Amino acid sequence: INKVEEEGDPRDFVGKMERAGKRAVIFYGSQTGTAEEYAIRLAKEAKSRFGLSSLVCDPEEYDMNLLDRVPENSVVIFVMATYGEGEPTDNAAALMELLSEEEPEFSEGGNRLENLNYVVFGLGNKTYEFYNEVARKLDEKLTNLGAKRIGERGEGDDDKSMEEDYLAWKDPMWEQFSKVLNVEEGGSGDVADFLVTEVTSHPPEKVFHGELSARALISASGASTPISGGYGLKNPYPAPVLASKELFTVDSDRNCVHIEFDLTGSGLTYQHGDHVGIWPSNPDIEVDRILSVLGLDSEENRFRIVDIESLDPALAKVPFPTPATYDAIFRHYLDISAIASRQTISFLSRYAPNEESKEKLVSWGTNKELYQKEIDGPALKLAEVLQASVGDDVNQHELPIKSTKWNIPFDRIVSNVPRLQPRYYSISSSSKLNPNSIHVTAVVLKYQSKASPIHHHEPRWVFGLSTNFILNVKNAHSGSSTPISDETKEALEGVTMKKVPSYKLSGPRNNYVKENVYKVPIHVRRSTFRLPTSPKVPIIMIGPGTGVAPFRGFVQERIALARKAIEKNGPDALKDWAPMYLFYGCRKSNEDFLYKDEWPQYEKELNGVLRMKVAFSREMTKPDGSKVYVQDLIHDARSELAPLIIDKRAYIYICGDAKSMSKAVEERLIQMLGEAKGGSAEVEGVKELKMLKERNRLMTDVWS
Ligand code: 2AM
Repeated sequence: INKVEEEGDPRDFVGKMERAGKRAVIFYGSQTGTAEEYAIRLAKEAKSRFGLSSLVCDPEEYDMNLLDRVPENSVVIFVMATYGEGEPTDNAAALMELLSEEEPEFSEGGNRLENLNYVVFGLGNKTYEFYNEVARKLDEKLTNLGAKRIGERGEGDDDKSMEEDYLAWKDPMWEQFSKVLNVEEGGSGDVADFLVTEVTSHPPEKVFHGELSARALISASGASTPISGGYGLKNPYPAPVLASKELFTVDSDRNCVHIEFDLTGSGLTYQHGDHVGIWPSNPDIEVDRILSVLGLDSEENRFRIVDIESLDPALAKVPFPTPATYDAIFRHYLDISAIASRQTISFLSRYAPNEESKEKLVSWGTNKELYQKEIDGPALKLAEVLQASVGDDVNQHELPIKSTKWNIPFDRIVSNVPRLQPRYYSISSSSKLNPNSIHVTAVVLKYQSKASPIHHHEPRWVFGLSTNFILNVKNAHSGSSTPISDETKEALEGVTMKKVPSYKLSGPRNNYVKENVYKVPIHVRRSTFRLPTSPKVPIIMIGPGTGVAPFRGFVQERIALARKAIEKNGPDALKDWAPMYLFYGCRKSNEDFLYKDEWPQYEKELNGVLRMKVAFSREMTKPDGSKVYVQDLIHDARSELAPLIIDKRAYIYICGDAKSMSKAVEERLIQMLGEAKGGSAEVEGVKELKMLKERNRLMTDVWS
């Protein structure tokens, strides 16, 4: 037997199905990966519901004229995206061409598909004219060729409701599916995706302790040459902290951190307006809590090394580099600090150590109101939910008291707890002025939970994971720690821990802390939030609070340009530069005014170009007694601003809070533009703003 015969023709999906004993093949017509994701979800669900494993295939890689040879007890599932004017995705073009032929010829010479069972789900967008054209056409062609559709054709609308459309479609489809294929719905929804092995002897330099990619380990273990392929989302750069300070601390309760990361030698570049992804770690207390709940908290257990393999790499990839220790997995790789999701709670109920606990978990998982009140309201994390279900007191600053140990197979944890994701920040520096560093400006997130935990009478503090991580890195780096205010002490009455969760940055071998150099994994995400190239185009920047971050970068960018221009053309070089307006807002001039000392210097250097207007919301009041915000200053300056926008083609930038601020600012702009156009806000104003957005002269970088 030669090798080809043994392995079969690589383009023969039917042969592949037979050899692997699979009764389902799922083809995806995908351009950006969404259809592929849904294909994988369908494959997972077929497996967990019916124990049926499937092939997930790119139609481009297979001979689609083999559709006539798919056995009658099997099924072909199509997940098809529609693009532009009703076009198929590139990888589905050949398939659609084949089916569009008047008399398509299939592999055995026939031109009918009487034996074929198929399922179809389409991904489209209702804002386009040919909504789900590809799925509809495919469905019609297959039916005409004699194939039998299982269930209804699904159609998802990417504009509004993709997820709900999918959820509403799939259950009735699976019901039909089980009848046609004669498979029982016996699956518990609980199948292993991964094989976890505790390894006893392993070269220590090959164990991961928080590195975010396999390549990172190679560099950390001594290789000094830059990594090929560069740093990015898939391979974040462990950036040394260059400088850090608190921009303000109000009553030690509201902190804002300025931190600078060193890019020297990394090959990383950025531009003003880009975002930086920061990869946080979980705080000690949460790592200890989950290890304790799982009975893994002893020194011996927590540093056991586990190797994880995917049982079906086409369906589930191991979400982080392994082998790694339990400690590293919970500290650096899994998101154990988020509010536990209903889905995860439901899933884990099957491992409850007793009936009472199981009942509780099931009810939180299925009863939305109860979940809102008892889990989401008090912001309980996964380990706290497990604690609460066995009647342990949930105290965010102390470990379990009764410490019932749970016996949850580790592979189920890996499958069900989401991976820790990077958080994005608007870069607050300019690469022209700071080519070797990225600056970040972050307000430390801390708020009161919406409800108090069961058996507690008070809401509790919720700490934002990433911003508190940054605060701790800053404290570790610059040696100071934040004192506790009286107000906080009171709020934490009876609670025995410092207010900020501490993030252990060191470990048995930690590449993030070495000889007092603190490193944070980062990567750069490009944005389109950019200045016009010419300084003769006026710009209007609006960014209260930390919304000012990218504008510090913008101003620095213009400073770099101004220095060059002055060097070349003398002190008058900025004479014909257009104005740069910066509308900034904070509470008080001597409290939370970000970069207060820097602005006067920038104004001086830009010699009249930079015009800064600041709204001190807790110092200034309007005649009616209400607060003065940036939008009010814009309104006051309308006679200067409107001509710049209408006649001088100014660029407008808004950064900061998406919910109320950016909406309020847009309303004022609409009003101003309507007036200036001699019409109404509702008609001329709205039209003008729409035009600005379409021409990218009004850009936003907002978050909620
Ligand atoms: P406040 O906290 O006094 O209400 C940065 O957070 C600044 O933005 C603060 O001065 C804050 O004022 C202000 N701010 C709050 N809500 C705002 C809104 N809807 N529009 C503009 N500024 C707002």
